[in-house]
Amino acid sequence: MGEPRSGQPDGVDDDVTITPYRDGPLLVRGPIRLQDQDGSEIEVDRGTIALCRCGKSRVRPFCDGTHKLVRFAAPSGAEQR
Ligand code: FES
Repeated sequence: MGEPRSGQPDGVDDDVTITPYRDGPLLVRGPIRLQDQDGSEIEVDRGTIALCRCGKSRVRPFCDGTHKLVRFAAPSGAEQR
């Protein structure tokens, strides 16, 4: 959590946090704008979204839970290079 920036009401946090969930999606929390590589906006209707990182979701770039069916495996932390 960071300090609210000017123009934000007290208690409003505009930091963005991305959390890789073990064997699951990337959880993105905070005020973001999501767009495809052509710059077209992808609608985000909530403050926290889950982005697929297994590649098998039927609603990419969002996670739909398919990672469990395909037994996607990845650590939460960084892998060794
Ligand atoms: S990470 Fe959940 S469907 Fe891919």
